[in-house]
Amino acid sequence: MSADQGAPSVAEVFDMLADVYDQTGVEFFQPVGAGLVAELDPRPGERCLDIGCGRGAATLPLARAVAPGGSVDAVDVAPAMVAATRSLVEQAGLAGVRVEVADAADLAGYDGGYDVVASSLVLFFLSGPGDVLRRWAGKLRPGGRIGLTTFGELDEATQAIDDLFVPWQPQAMLDARTSGTTGPFGSDAGMEELFAAAGIADVRTVVRPTTLEFADVAAWQRFMMSTGQRAMWRNVPEEERPGFLERAAAILEGTRVDGGPGRLVWQMRYTLGARPS
Ligand SMILES: C[S@@+](CC[C@H](N)C(=O)[O-])C[C@H]1O[C@@H](n2cnc3c(N)ncnc32)[C@H](O)[C@@H]1O
Repeated sequence: MSADQGAPSVAEVFDMLADVYDQTGVEFFQPVGAGLVAELDPRPGERCLDIGCGRGAATLPLARAVAPGGSVDAVDVAPAMVAATRSLVEQAGLAGVRVEVADAADLAGYDGGYDVVASSLVLFFLSGPGDVLRRWAGKLRPGGRIGLTTFGELDEATQAIDDLFVPWQPQAMLDARTSGTTGPFGSDAGMEELFAAAGIADVRTVVRPTTLEFADVAAWQRFMMSTGQRAMWRNVPEEERPGFLERAAAILEGTRVDGGPGRLVWQMRYTLGARPS
């Protein structure tokens, strides 16, 4: 834990989460990562860079798409995420994949000339995202493609649950919320402007809905505790937690149709472009 802040850093949070991240039975990160890879359309033999790979939601589909003969460099700042992705790559028997601990803000060891740079649900954790994105785009060969996933519009039920967290969050954490409605991450146009300012051409946005299904509020809580939102839960006082969960359960109940699971619908935004040839 960072002694100066009293709260864990992003790297520490994801290092702690790595065992449960994407392991709660709620389908989310993998289809979203696969969707980004589909938009980037990697081809056999191409070289790819996956920045902030987590447990390989984009890494594995990239590796499958570029075989035979291609390669994927995947990096993450959390060593436990790197270890998990390495093991998943090995289990899948995928060749040409290198997974290493590295800071997305400083990828000096990654020389460039990549055909594809992918980063799913990462850039909003970095300070100075415009400068960072320019550096990422600089890793592409001329004509190479870049794609990022961020959160688009969240349904009313999700916003209502998110609002339950607000009273106890410090301002810095609210600003860092990935569903934030201000700044470049708040709109398709904001992301497109960020891309254009980073010297990326042919910028376009694709938005796809993802439905998250929860049998009950306990399933929602397990999922929430397996994501970065766990850091927000830490700030909810112990005595407020039962009431929080009751209110979240009532919101989820309202999303059930014909006795089915609770459903939250998140619009996932893919911002795509290419390095000018
Ligand atoms: C929400 S997860 C997304 C992981 C994966 N791309 C996916 O879609 O499942 C964010 C990831 O970004 C990583 N990350 C955050 N800041 C980073 C940084 N400065 N450098 C490298 N990785 C970072 C975290 O460790 C975490 O694994």
